[in-house]
Amino acid sequence: MCGIVGVLGKHQAAPILVEGLKLLEYRGYDSAGIATISDGRLERRRALGKLVNLSDILVHEPLRGTAGIGHTRWATHGAANESNAHPHARGRVAVVHNGIIENFRDLRAFLSEHQVVPETDTDTETVAMLCNWYMEQGSTPVEAAKLTVARLEGAYALCFLFDGEEDLIIAARKGSPLAVGWGEQEMYVGSDALALAPMTDEITYLEEGDIAVITRAGADFLDAGFHPVSRPRKRVRVNANAADKGGYKHFMAKEIAEQPSVLGEATEYYLRDQTGRQLLREGVDFADIDRVVMVACGTAALACSVAKYWFEQLAGLPVEVDIASEFRYREPPLSKGTLAIFVSQSGETADTLAAMRYCAGKVARSVAIVNVAESSIARESDIALPILAGPEIGVASTKAFTCQLVVLAVLALRASEQRGTQDTTRIEALEAQLRHVPGMVSEAMRCEDRIQAVSSQLARRRHALFLGRGVMFPLALEGALKLKEISYIHAEGYASGELKHGPIALIDEEMPVIVLAPHDAVFDKTVSNMQEVMARGGQIAMISDAQGLELASEGLWNGIEMPTFDSIFAPIVYAVPVQLLAYYTAVEKGTDVDQPRNLAKSVTVE
Ligand code: F6R
Repeated sequence: MCGIVGVLGKHQAAPILVEGLKLLEYRGYDSAGIATISDGRLERRRALGKLVNLSDILVHEPLRGTAGIGHTRWATHGAANESNAHPHARGRVAVVHNGIIENFRDLRAFLSEHQVVPETDTDTETVAMLCNWYMEQGSTPVEAAKLTVARLEGAYALCFLFDGEEDLIIAARKGSPLAVGWGEQEMYVGSDALALAPMTDEITYLEEGDIAVITRAGADFLDAGFHPVSRPRKRVRVNANAADKGGYKHFMAKEIAEQPSVLGEATEYYLRDQTGRQLLREGVDFADIDRVVMVACGTAALACSVAKYWFEQLAGLPVEVDIASEFRYREPPLSKGTLAIFVSQSGETADTLAAMRYCAGKVARSVAIVNVAESSIARESDIALPILAGPEIGVASTKAFTCQLVVLAVLALRASEQRGTQDTTRIEALEAQLRHVPGMVSEAMRCEDRIQAVSSQLARRRHALFLGRGVMFPLALEGALKLKEISYIHAEGYASGELKHGPIALIDEEMPVIVLAPHDAVFDKTVSNMQEVMARGGQIAMISDAQGLELASEGLWNGIEMPTFDSIFAPIVYAVPVQLLAYYTAVEKGTDVDQPRNLAKSVTVE
């Protein structure tokens, strides 16, 4: 949701800014822009669309100077066009922003009383206008930035650059992440450590409300009350090569293929002997918990929906799953017997973070299951459990989803153990099944050619349905979400048994129906629902194991074989064909797989 980067360096800033923005483009790609101080003067270049358009402009109209800020945009206020692209500049100030300034209309009204009028449709421009106005009233850049920030409501990560100030960037953070990077007589600022990885691995994360006054010699930090404060410098291990496609055509393909290895790491980390057990035990005793609330958005929320079956069936614990944007405004009653679990790949999703803040002090513990260990959600939780998926760049979540499932599965096992709902032999058998998951996922990849063939037919359809029963139902929802978001084919997921209560009216010869049906305890019921669809001309692609396909292959449009894995953890394995189906359909349609239209990877606004 917008990426920002800044540099005060020894070398030309523009190529460094573009390099940083490349690593942030997953956050938004509606437009990109940079500003530098060239011969003491602020200059900008901006371009609509992806970063490559900005790079083209910079070839013909280079920007000089060793100090600069840059931005890649996911539009919130104002259409995606060049005028609304960041950096926004007014008078002596240029600003890049990630977040939403909620009181920008009030600020505009104030400024218009002083004959300062907007030139764009954005909330961000108001920040530059206000800061410049304070400077016109005699404030220094630092004072003006402080006075401006004090008047902002909403969420922001901001960088200010000032005309005539070659050795100054001011950064501010509230609600959106921001990191300061330390170099040798060079300083950087960026939305995350990944953006700064080519330049430095020494990072200071800004806390909520912090301002950083950055010069080449270092950074001074002020807290929300503008008092000087010290913030730790940390060495972070981020591999800039993680943002490399590694020979794959798309990040999504690479990330799907990485699953056996990252799932191997996650299962090993969480299941290894006593150390792994301690990790999850710390601070949570499921024997004292009478209810679990899981909150997340999108794919992460669907991981929670899968885990609901595990916690309820294995640990006998009632679970409520809610999408964060609803949870936070519903004012749900909570109690000290409630364990709240928040799942987020980025760890920055605004609604999930707000939901977590709502729970603070009202529940037994807040557990964050995150991919980005230094994220806001991780840092504000009582217990943060990393999913160990490594950087996920493709906008559609794949390996993060399956790694989230592994962590949730281990938590459900620990809950069963502590609550005494499963005996040791059963727990060990379930752990053994979980250890098999990476290998099973690797076997599931063998369906790739088959999926590719199905996808070439699916790509010609305008709608699709996904069906699943029991623990496969949330995966049907995930299949539909994945297909929609990258292939733009309208898709819905349903519980197989629910279809006849309405959606079956949609079935005709044009409607492909993807059925997720391992040969498990509910297989026969799912097959009955499948027959109801076939009787009405619906075309079924059935994803099942050898036994399931043998029993129910008659009349199928397509059959896709999965390895035999009779386990409650089978959704982790069946995630693979669901992801591949969306991927190859999108490739067939020629859509932008890694950066689908209108989306951004990290949703740091409501
Ligand atoms: C879909 C997808 C999104 C995210 C959602 C939550 O493929 O990636 O639905 O799952 O935006 O994001 P995080 O997990 O970062 O909180």
